Amino acid sequence: MVQKAYDWKNGAVLEDHSRRKHKIIGEYFYDYLLVRCRRPQQSLFRLAIIDGFAGGGRYQCGSPGSPLIFIEELVRANSTVNLSRIDQGLPPVSFQCLLIVNDFDPEVINILRENVSPLVARIKETNQNINLQVKFLTSPFEKAFIEIEKILNSEKYTNVVFNLDQCGHSLVEVDTVKKIVSSYPSAEIFFTFAIQSLIAFLQKSDPSKLIRYGVGKEELAVLNGPLNREEWLGLAERIVFETFSKFAGFVSPFSIHNPNGWRYWLLHMANRSFRARQVFNDVLHRNKNMQAHFGRSGLNMLAYNPDNDANALYLFGEEDRKAATEELIYDIPRFVTDSGSEMPLSDFYRQVYNGTPAHSDDIHAAIIESSEVQAVTRHGGVRRKGTSIRAEDVLKLKPQRSFFPMLAKKNKKP
Ligand SMILES: C[S@@+](CC[C@H](N)C(=O)[O-])C[C@H]1O[C@@H](n2cnc3c(N)ncnc32)[C@H](O)[C@@H]1O
Repeated sequence: MVQKAYDWKNGAVLEDHSRRKHKIIGEYFYDYLLVRCRRPQQSLFRLAIIDGFAGGGRYQCGSPGSPLIFIEELVRANSTVNLSRIDQGLPPVSFQCLLIVNDFDPEVINILRENVSPLVARIKETNQNINLQVKFLTSPFEKAFIEIEKILNSEKYTNVVFNLDQCGHSLVEVDTVKKIVSSYPSAEIFFTFAIQSLIAFLQKSDPSKLIRYGVGKEELAVLNGPLNREEWLGLAERIVFETFSKFAGFVSPFSIHNPNGWRYWLLHMANRSFRARQVFNDVLHRNKNMQAHFGRSGLNMLAYNPDNDANALYLFGEEDRKAATEELIYDIPRFVTDSGSEMPLSDFYRQVYNGTPAHSDDIHAAIIESSEVQAVTRHGGVRRKGTSIRAEDVLKLKPQRSFFPMLAKKNKKP
């Protein structure tokens, strides 16, 4: 008998791609909490997590599903944050967290209740710094969203993290994603979807949009062809990016890697800060081969040009990073030159992060190795090590520069 993939009653099977997706989401969420609790005087971090397609919470093999992963990572982050604050003589941070879990199947939500309750009980007994409240909803997501908005607005949550894991179907409207991103001061979304439903949606809702995105006759032929061609991935990625970066400041438009056909995308969107995208890129590099990008790997990843041999499959591995560093060494001085002769590093990050798959260490290494630019501290010192570069620094063209490498690269088509 063929078993249903999400048969929570008899034991849902955890597919390998979901296991890897869980690892990325868990690691990112943990890092997110650490980054958001860095201020020495901070005493509280308030956030709402909304798991719109929550599932039953535990797979047949015993591994946790997304709602349990959020709770476990919250507990882990609380210990890291507060142990480190004790070491530094700082006051503790309390986490006030609302977890809204929704699944349209009430039986699944009952199973989830049972799986969540021991974790919540343990937090109550042992974690004085965590105040976790869980709300259970049982509607199709678009309907549940009306209730979710009411709760978030009446309880005045400003930090929200949505996990919209819609198992490959088109169950979340693009307009809903837009609303989430624009309604909260700090909104982040993990968004899983099947690419073909997005392309079908665009073709149906506004065919001219695809043309505006540079999808002409030739590209349409590529899109309707086999899903495992690298050109197909590059094109689909550009469509995803154009669609979502209209309203989200930072969109990682990478596909879940599958050499047999890039069907599913796990997007991360953030409206607030380049830091979110920086952390997400770094998590992808810790989990190489999980996501795939096709195009350039420097600052302008979507500048696809069929004549440019810099286009390649980027799987966030060691070899990819070497290629990225080579491109960054040229791209960074060009970017600074185009903006004048210097810029605060925080402005540089804000302007470039949406368009690069690069690891933060590689961006910093390229700055340190550059013969053209340098990172200068606010006291005028020049940074000598990538690890000491800070967002408060200024990125400046060097007084003595060799223009040669930049000009040589400029002759290539971008
Ligand atoms: C991919 S599974 C969720 C897995 C879970 N997020 C995890 O990572 O462990 C998708 C879940 O969505 C539920 N579902 C399907 N359609 C839905 C809809 N329109 N609204 C809400 N839930 C839905 C299914 O019952 C199923 O449990």
